[in-house]
Amino acid sequence: MDILKEEFMQSFIRMANDGWEQGWHERNGGNLTYRMKEQEAAACQAFFSFTGPWVELGVCAPNLGGAYFVATGSGKYFRNVKRAPEESLCIARLNEKGDAYQIVWGLVAGGRPTSEFPSHIMNHAVKTAVSPDYRVIYHAHPANTIALTFVLPLTDRDFTLALWESATECPVVFPAGVGVVEWMVPGGAEIALATSELMKTYDVAIWAHHGVFCAGPDFDSTFGLMHTVEKAAEIRV
Ligand code: 13P
Ligand code: ZN
Repeated sequence: MDILKEEFMQSFIRMANDGWEQGWHERNGGNLTYRMKEQEAAACQAFFSFTGPWVELGVCAPNLGGAYFVATGSGKYFRNVKRAPEESLCIARLNEKGDAYQIVWGLVAGGRPTSEFPSHIMNHAVKTAVSPDYRVIYHAHPANTIALTFVLPLTDRDFTLALWESATECPVVFPAGVGVVEWMVPGGAEIALATSELMKTYDVAIWAHHGVFCAGPDFDSTFGLMHTVEKAAEIRV
């Protein structure tokens, strides 16, 4: 067995590369996490190492205690994921309390999960509570959606209407609308809590002057959601 050949990992790598090809991941911009199924984590146990240190998350997700996540590494480039997945990605598990993680696979040249891991974990926690089907959290830097945050009022209502009006399929693809987080310092607990609060209502949270978070049950629908939002934003622009 080769972890890299497993379907979840192939799909993860494909999505990261698709995002790169869309131009949404300059340098190390953006990050992606996947909450593994129990049978996927069980099948990979022989390839995991449980000797790494436990690192505090700064947030707490008790309903995700013991869960395994595939995550992009902090400072790693989406451009390199397909060429060097074991250097760019890791698998990390949460402790039972859900407030610390341990890397069990990957990042072979060193590193840690994305600096937005607290936001990803809190979003996973909220979406898993909404429905256990949610597994993917995706953060990208798509230019047109970011551009709109310099033009439109930074409210859920203004962005939802602007995007819904721009393409007929939008209200069908994201019927709940989108949420907006005003500019905040990225990479910490505060923005994680603000974003996950929006994820109680929406599958899309726009970070003003920064990027977008999308949530979904699988790689195709989560990528498709980001794609739909950004295309509507492009039309609006
Ligand atoms: P990371 O490289 O830590 O994932 O950060 C990229 C990013 O987009 C921060 O918001
Ligand atoms: Zn970002």
